[in-house]
Amino acid sequence: MALDIVIMAAGKGTRMKSSLPKVLHRLAGRPLLAHVLTTTARLGEHHCWVITGHGAEAVESAIAGTGALAVRQIPQLGTGHAIAQVAPKLAENGTTLILNGDVPLIEAGTAQALAEACGGQHLALLTIKLDDATGYGRILRSGDADGGRVLGIVEHKDATAAQREITEVYTGMMAAPTALLKRWVAALNNQNAQGEYYLTDIVAMAVADGVPVVATHAHDDTEVLGVNSPLQLADLERRLQRRQAEALMEAGVRLADPARFDLRGTLATGRDVEIDISCVFEGAVTLGDEVRIGAHCVIRDAVIATGAVIYPFSHIEGAQVGAGALVGPFARLRPGAELGQDVHIGNFVEVKNSTLAKGAKANHLAYLGDATVGERVNFGAGSITANYDGANKHRTVIGDDVHIGSNCVLIAPLNIGDGGTVGGGSTVSKNTAPGELTVARGKQVSITGWKRPVKAAKTAKG
Ligand code: UD1
Ligand code: MG
Repeated sequence: MALDIVIMAAGKGTRMKSSLPKVLHRLAGRPLLAHVLTTTARLGEHHCWVITGHGAEAVESAIAGTGALAVRQIPQLGTGHAIAQVAPKLAENGTTLILNGDVPLIEAGTAQALAEACGGQHLALLTIKLDDATGYGRILRSGDADGGRVLGIVEHKDATAAQREITEVYTGMMAAPTALLKRWVAALNNQNAQGEYYLTDIVAMAVADGVPVVATHAHDDTEVLGVNSPLQLADLERRLQRRQAEALMEAGVRLADPARFDLRGTLATGRDVEIDISCVFEGAVTLGDEVRIGAHCVIRDAVIATGAVIYPFSHIEGAQVGAGALVGPFARLRPGAELGQDVHIGNFVEVKNSTLAKGAKANHLAYLGDATVGERVNFGAGSITANYDGANKHRTVIGDDVHIGSNCVLIAPLNIGDGGTVGGGSTVSKNTAPGELTVARGKQVSITGWKRPVKAAKTAKG
């Protein structure tokens, strides 16, 4: 049977107080809407529609390429009006599953169960009991004697004091037989406290038409929580991060503190991985066996091999770190940094688009950009590759066993032959042959018997 999924995303999100449409605010590094689309992608064959309105262009470019199609709702006259806009597109004989772009953590299993509870025949509502139901639509049921059948939904603003005592609420997600849904939304009116076309009014219509209404339940409140404000967004972020942290710890990762851990992407881990507090992982990161990450590191799109140690406050992006390498504290690896086995990168060292072969070291205050560094090279404190001539980038190639002293400037393009030594303070712009010592700095002059000038005595005034 045909399945259409409609994701509501036209609302303004007034309480976010942001110029970014609400559904594009990020949770764990991805737009809220992207979370919902990832989940729906796991639900069998279907067509997916996103209702856009506020910030429609931005939302529509965010869904481009996902397979979901946008349907604009302008102006936004309520959730029922939103469904009326997409109704002509929905397959006549089937089920329509309605989700919300600002309820990002709905689980595929729960959405699937909701669609199945409808089965093209029943009106299925996803409900949950909340201690504080303020703002939500309340589920009205018949008396116990009647089996507690669902009779309707009353919006908070339209509810009587007694109805506001009801703790079972509508989560904003439902599944309906499509042909009936089309008929019901066409018959809605906006005679209510908000002057809106309420989708929730179709529940009473179903009851009047003798269509069974069933309620399915969310398995925890996190999956039905919506984001309306920065506070709610941050709350959901912590819940999601906690979940991710727990999954990693179950896989054996030792997190110093799961409350101070942030993963905004994917993290693949080997055995005996340790991660200290307040690290942020973004994009796709892989940590091999026995990798240790110190406190306060930010690591994005990186592969860190077995036994490597990243000391605190390091920033790594688009880099590969070899087995047993030591990086940091305060190191910066930029895109294209490839460190071989046992490489050492120390404090205030920046590496960009450079490969360092096995055992190479740059331990203090250095810049390696567009460089190929051989095995066992020692790159001294304060030394840099001058890779940019103001227009183009050039490469520096440093052979195996080279020793670059402190405070050297290697002006690329440049080749330092194997086993060469460059004396401290040198500015080198010509290739050197293997084994040579290169010194390129002002010659030292020491003058014996030289006298430092003495201050002239002040002449008396007048
Ligand atoms: C809605 C439900 C309420 C439920 C609550 C759960 C109705 C009338 N009420 O109330 O029973 O408890 O969700 O969170 O449905 N939207 C549009 N176009 C519109 C209006 C809204 O696309 O014209 C979208 C919003 O972007 C949002 C969703 O629909 O994603 C819900 O709209 P919202 O205004 O938040 O409804 P609530 O008042 O929260
Ligand atoms: Mg809402």
